[in-house]
Amino acid sequence: MTSPHPPLRSFGRLKSRTIKPRQAALMDILLPQLRVPAAPFDPRALVAGSTEAWLEIGFGGGEHLAAQAARRPDVGFIGAEPFQNGVASALRHIDEAGLTNVRLHDGDARDLLARMPDASLARIFILFPDPWPKARHHKRRLLQADVAAELSRLLKPGGRLRFASDWADYVNWSLERLLATPGLTWAAEQASDWRAPPADHVTTRYEEKRLGDCAPVFLDFVKA
Ligand SMILES: C[S@@+](CC[C@H](N)C(=O)[O-])C[C@H]1O[C@@H](n2cnc3c(N)ncnc32)[C@H](O)[C@@H]1O
Repeated sequence: MTSPHPPLRSFGRLKSRTIKPRQAALMDILLPQLRVPAAPFDPRALVAGSTEAWLEIGFGGGEHLAAQAARRPDVGFIGAEPFQNGVASALRHIDEAGLTNVRLHDGDARDLLARMPDASLARIFILFPDPWPKARHHKRRLLQADVAAELSRLLKPGGRLRFASDWADYVNWSLERLLATPGLTWAAEQASDWRAPPADHVTTRYEEKRLGDCAPVFLDFVKA
């Protein structure tokens, strides 16, 4: 079957350093237990007893994913990340915190989206995605119009999408696409709504590095 989207181009590398033995063991033993099904599935049914499902795309080292999952044991979390060292790090966080409400897709998030039914997610996070600042690389940015439309399809009415970046051009580029996405409405009412981290935000590892060219911007959109 041909893939509906261009192949994943990694801004960083997909595997950078040797995975430590303990994390390698978690990749062998825990990851197969937590991996989401390869066939179509309902994310609300993945974690027994959960009331809703949340998705984080590109979770990096998994710090935000694990912290949110610890705060909300009533929610079933799905994290998608192709970077192997990131997946190994997330498994360590999940294991250390004894989290039972996280499932993982260790690959391109775009392959996961079509497997889930309409209105099956309550929240989606895309935090500090790879900026691809050069104009000729903008087509590699994650939040293309077709992906934004899929995310809108997946959110339930009242569900929320959070996009954050510290690259001004990527913020403007994404804002344009999100504003043009049917079903999504920007929740901001005043500048502090996008300039200040939302009350429920957990600072990410990439965010801490301050590699971008502006202060972090948070775009929260609501599904009609
Ligand atoms: C700049 S890092 C930010 C990581 C994390 N969100 C943070 O703020 O620390 C962007 C991450 O997105 C991941 N990524 C890139 N393309 C992706 C895709 N198509 N699906 C899922 N993750 C992706 C990369 O592997 C990388 O870990």
